[in-house]
Amino acid sequence: MKKWLSFLICAMMVFSLTACGGSAQPSSSAASTETAAPTESTASTNDADSSDALIVVGYAQVGAESDWRTANTKSFQEFFVPANGYDLKFVDGQNDQSRQIAAIRDFIAQEVDYIVLAPVVETGWEAVLQEAKDAGIPVVLSDRMVDVTDDSLYMAWVGGDFKLEGVRAMEWLESYLADQGRSDEAINIVHLQGTIGASAQIGRTEGIFEGVESNPNFTILESQTGDFTQALGQEVMESMLKAYADIDVVIAENDNMAFGAIDAIKAAGKVPGEDIIIISFDAVHEAFERMIAGELNCAVECNPLHGPRVGDIIQTLERGETISNKIWYVDEGVFDQSDAASELPSRMY
Ligand code: AHR
Repeated sequence: MKKWLSFLICAMMVFSLTACGGSAQPSSSAASTETAAPTESTASTNDADSSDALIVVGYAQVGAESDWRTANTKSFQEFFVPANGYDLKFVDGQNDQSRQIAAIRDFIAQEVDYIVLAPVVETGWEAVLQEAKDAGIPVVLSDRMVDVTDDSLYMAWVGGDFKLEGVRAMEWLESYLADQGRSDEAINIVHLQGTIGASAQIGRTEGIFEGVESNPNFTILESQTGDFTQALGQEVMESMLKAYADIDVVIAENDNMAFGAIDAIKAAGKVPGEDIIIISFDAVHEAFERMIAGELNCAVECNPLHGPRVGDIIQTLERGETISNKIWYVDEGVFDQSDAASELPSRMY
């Protein structure tokens, strides 16, 4: 909503409350978290009948690199609609931080009510987030984190616990090998990393490396980025298969890179899921189908349905309430071939 219109509405509300003998209430737009960043918005979901009253939300999305990302975009586009009281301005950053920074500057120029950022990488955000703060526009982070010294630059963050996901992947591998009587066997792992510097890469890699350190029989032959894409996952796996004859396990930091790796393994004449154990992250629909087909062994969940969660955060700010959990980790599970068929019908993405 435009600043002047917001001001006019506030002035009229104060006037009418005073005229009725009531006391002026704080504007519903006064966000009060630890940092109490102001916002220009006075609208709520009850104002859905007037387009002027819609809460304008600018979402600077990472890109469209994976099935997970597509589900995440859909979650925002389905939730932030006029019927729910929102006008969503969506920008696909194409995996490029400079595009995301330009999008945020554009949102500031348009005087949106809130900015939502899923940062492609963690570093390099201070300047533009300070610009948003100076403009009085609250920023909500979703999915990935930013590495800033001043945490008043954002109001809240919601996403998955990436390090825990990595730890869980390694716990699954330990128990799978134990079930097969292979606990003492030397296990050679190749590791397809996500976009270097992204929270999902940093956290998962940390968890995976910890698991390798605590299992002296595990060796990582190579870690290389596949940038969270299927095409690069396939390409990197092809070169790894040429370089190493004795790969026991592939750990891909997302499903799409695992799908690419599976294609490369098949093309090399090996059987994915049998000759080579495949572990991935996200647990999108296709991962369940591939587990049912026996090609993928384990998918560690990373839930992308953050639209309504960010909506909850924005509504808390709209009510002028304190955000109690500034860092909000969502609950996630671990799935394998033993439960893929029973779980698939209830999967939401
Ligand atoms: O940040 C979440 C990660 O980003 C997902 O694991 C991946 O698929 C996406 O590209």
